[in-house]
Amino acid sequence: MKEVSLKQLLNTMTIDEKIGQLIQLAPFFFQDSIKGEITGPMRDIGIDVDKIKYVGNVLGIGGAKEKRMIQEDYLAHHPNKIPLLFMGDIIHGYKTIFPIPLALGCSWNKDLVKETARVAAKEASVAGLHVTFSPMVDLVKDPRWGRVMESTGEDPYLNGEFAESMVLGYQSESLDEVGTIAACVKHFAAYGAPEGGRDYNTVDVSKRVLMQYYLPAYQKALDAGAKMVMTSFNSVDGIPATGNRWLLKGILRDSWKFNGVTVSDYGSVVEMVEHRTAENKKDAAKQAFNATLDIEMMSGAYVNHLKTLIENNEVEKAFLDESVYRILSLKNELGLFENPYRFASEEKEKTVHLSKEHRALAKRSAHEASVLLKNDSLLPLNEKQNIVIIGPYADEHSIMGPWSWQGSETDTISLKQGIEAIIKRPVKTASGTNLKGELTDFDEAIALAKEADVVILALGEPAHYSGEGGSRTNIKLPGKQESLLEAIHQLSKPIVSVLFNGRPLDIKNLNEKSNAILEAWFPGTEGGNALAELLYGYVNPSGRLTMSFPRNVGQVPVYYNHFSTGRPKKNHNYNRYVSHYLDEENSPLYPFGFGLSYTNFEYGTIQESSHVVTEKKGIEVSVEVTNTGKVAGKETVQLYIRDDFASVIRPVKELKGFKQIELNPQEKRTVTFKIKDSMLGFIDQSLNKTVEPGTFKIYVGNHSETSAFIEITYKNKV
Ligand code: NOJ
Repeated sequence: MKEVSLKQLLNTMTIDEKIGQLIQLAPFFFQDSIKGEITGPMRDIGIDVDKIKYVGNVLGIGGAKEKRMIQEDYLAHHPNKIPLLFMGDIIHGYKTIFPIPLALGCSWNKDLVKETARVAAKEASVAGLHVTFSPMVDLVKDPRWGRVMESTGEDPYLNGEFAESMVLGYQSESLDEVGTIAACVKHFAAYGAPEGGRDYNTVDVSKRVLMQYYLPAYQKALDAGAKMVMTSFNSVDGIPATGNRWLLKGILRDSWKFNGVTVSDYGSVVEMVEHRTAENKKDAAKQAFNATLDIEMMSGAYVNHLKTLIENNEVEKAFLDESVYRILSLKNELGLFENPYRFASEEKEKTVHLSKEHRALAKRSAHEASVLLKNDSLLPLNEKQNIVIIGPYADEHSIMGPWSWQGSETDTISLKQGIEAIIKRPVKTASGTNLKGELTDFDEAIALAKEADVVILALGEPAHYSGEGGSRTNIKLPGKQESLLEAIHQLSKPIVSVLFNGRPLDIKNLNEKSNAILEAWFPGTEGGNALAELLYGYVNPSGRLTMSFPRNVGQVPVYYNHFSTGRPKKNHNYNRYVSHYLDEENSPLYPFGFGLSYTNFEYGTIQESSHVVTEKKGIEVSVEVTNTGKVAGKETVQLYIRDDFASVIRPVKELKGFKQIELNPQEKRTVTFKIKDSMLGFIDQSLNKTVEPGTFKIYVGNHSETSAFIEITYKNKV
């Protein structure tokens, strides 16, 4: 539809129809036959049938058949035949489930992440979905918060890179392309910083910190073309994000020039009443509307109060047309006026979902997402070794992780299945405990382990321990899983631990008692096959952590890019009055960027084209990397920068670039990074971007604790 016809359409709509476009409800409001879970304040939404007939957006609905049915029925009654927009959470795959986003991040492979988003979009689009509530780009530092599984980790730069990949994957070059869906970046803003790691809790970061570290990844997603933004449950600077005009109008619309659609999170408009910044739902509607929030998800403030607010001139009437126009434009860009069913096709669902290619990508992504944390030369395993698999994940199919509601356990390969496919004989398993860590067949597990040359321990958290509402104060392996570890350890058998989890865990004990540890996260549909290929050396592990593993929960949050303090702990001579713990190291158990391989990579000395960077002229730094081991492998060469002195406190180190190389044994390659002045900048006290003259350290290495650096100087007037 042309712009002028959209405007004409807008002019013919009644106020009720317009308000309808600003509402999103679950499918069971449209069809009695559909069931769903109601969370939050939705239970008392107070909506009547008359209002539902104009509601313009549907949340979280199944396949092509249901969507076609609802759309057809709806259009038959809608006065202006404005199609419904179907949105849902396609976070790491639709039917073919990829590793959770935190794991995908550990691939450090932007192209791979883009491909997974592309496939997720293809599968979701034939099921008739139009918008996915992804990417989630919240910066996370606290593993107690269960939603860390949905983010790509603790680094703002890396999160921005992956945000871009995901948006380009979902949307491709244009939404005209077959198999695309629109991306909705979330949760704007800073949802990843709840106090104490407790979901939905207060977030309190300064505006400078928000702008420097939290906002860039959202902006990167928008620069890549994301069509929608979801607001967050938390407050920003004391005002709930959903009603925060500074954030939604000031930053998003005025400063970043975003003219796409905003949507609240589930019920977050009326939650302003619980935040006690709105006196009642009407007040909440007024605040959200004045903040320029377009669509209200699953609560009844707009539907019940917006009309009165507009008629009484309590909100600006013009905003209504602006919002509706944005929504109509998105529907138009998706081609819904021409074809309201878009790519929905029951026939295509049969061939596209879980296709051979999609499963192959799921396997490759699980290879690249897994991180080898420890290896005392036990891995790769030899196919002749007599192995047993012990632990609750030994033959478990619930390894897709949270936000995989369309995935099915029956399509998922367990670790046992994957290993049997490789060694071509049956493998004995015993769970020892269930997923919660309650004892099951402990004695059988011990008896079985006694028979083996090598014990594979398959441990972890149940999927629902992470994800939304999945905060924990205890981040050790649940229940008696550590006792199981202890008992097996007593047998003095070599132990390979394979971990299934949605967050960094406290695995200090496991680290001491295992000879090798493979962090599998929730690896998705092809998890078992991918892990078996890694364990037996068909594929060389290449994942690198994007979130630090604490030594214990008391260290949390522990992250590599922390700020310099006035009393840093500098050496091993004891001094009580420095920033440290009496009972634990400051450093994490495994740092950001860390991961092992079955080969070794040696780094030469860092070379630089010049020591001076200016506004006009950057420099190049390079390092030669050699594969000194016996097998081919993939290395992620990481570039970190430290600003030595600045007008505000800067992090001790920040990731500014990375490159992946694949090297055969004895092969070497020179990896070069360009250093530009923009990489040296920061947000100053007046909230402006600045680069201050002075010295900087440039580190190149294989994880964030690398110590090799060169020093450069930035001069702004040369
Ligand atoms: C609440 C979650 O916070 C959000 O991420 C999700 O997209 C919505 N529910 C819709 O399911």
